[in-house]
Amino acid sequence: MPAAERPSVPTPIDRPRRLRRTPALRRLVAQTRWQPSDLVLPMFVKQELTEPAPLASMPGVQQHTIDSLRRAAEQAVTAGVGGLMLFGIPAERDAVGSQADHPDGILNVALRALKSDLGDATVLMADLCLDEFTDHGHCGVLTADGAVDNDATLVRYADMALAQAASGADLLGTSGMMDGQVAAVRAALDEAGDLDTGVFGYAAKYASAFYGPFREAVDSALQGDRRTYQQDPANRAEATREALLDIAEGADLVMVKPALGYLDILSDVAEIGARAGIPVAAYQVSGEYAMVEAAAANGWIDRDRAIVETVTAIRRAGTQIVLTYWAVELAERFATGA
Ligand code: PBG
Repeated sequence: MPAAERPSVPTPIDRPRRLRRTPALRRLVAQTRWQPSDLVLPMFVKQELTEPAPLASMPGVQQHTIDSLRRAAEQAVTAGVGGLMLFGIPAERDAVGSQADHPDGILNVALRALKSDLGDATVLMADLCLDEFTDHGHCGVLTADGAVDNDATLVRYADMALAQAASGADLLGTSGMMDGQVAAVRAALDEAGDLDTGVFGYAAKYASAFYGPFREAVDSALQGDRRTYQQDPANRAEATREALLDIAEGADLVMVKPALGYLDILSDVAEIGARAGIPVAAYQVSGEYAMVEAAAANGWIDRDRAIVETVTAIRRAGTQIVLTYWAVELAERFATGA
């Protein structure tokens, strides 16, 4: 087009690109930062396993033996991660999840082993839920007609809380999405005179397809779904209700899960947490991990950048703590500046 006919383009007055020009400028003005101590590593330990078992749907993640768990926990703590969240897979399951609160149940054995190795050098967290321990795979006990019995489940959770606290858990991750769960656990601890063990409330937990690989990780027996207790992905406002309830019932920290598809929820709960003075966490779940790993394995995505970008997005939404299967790798990369 001849110059005379070209439309005139106004010269920009504001030039935000100035602050993006060099890596040093970008580093200086970066609003969202994280460090290894913000990250929590979820870990799986399986009874009667003789060798660690890699998980096909979560490359790099394993079901641990007690021994390999101890080594991996040591490595995570050395890398500087902020805490460990343990899940146990028992050899035997029954209708009420008896192994969940049995002192020799795998999760309680693992907690004692890590507590004796690590003491207070890290924050030990335990998944307080029945799904790994029940033969039907639900997060609670069932009524005669097969529905999840909320209030009967609370009694089981109270027993689990005492067993996990006695085994050395610092924080109990109440992930079952039963009504009144935090209150039941807090009351059980208080009555037992345990004023120190804290409750990490899974305040907003959605019925998500992104837990898929986790079900392999815990050899889940579940038929059907968890939609009568976990939240409907269509709903935003009830996350506020759930978070306020958990806080009112005595949660010391609250969590949102999954993370990446739920940044609006994270932002809402982060605001509630800020007002209540309660730390807020997000759980970057198994499917979020698998999605990035699978795309990267196909050469479709820059794995290292994608990982940092997802964790940054989760932090940017207002979350302080991030549970992620990449916690150790991220902590090690942080140390080397990679
Ligand atoms: C319940 C629990 C689940 C996850 C953490 N705690 C599974 C579920 O609710 O179905 C999923 C975590 C993940 O997908 O990484 N014990």
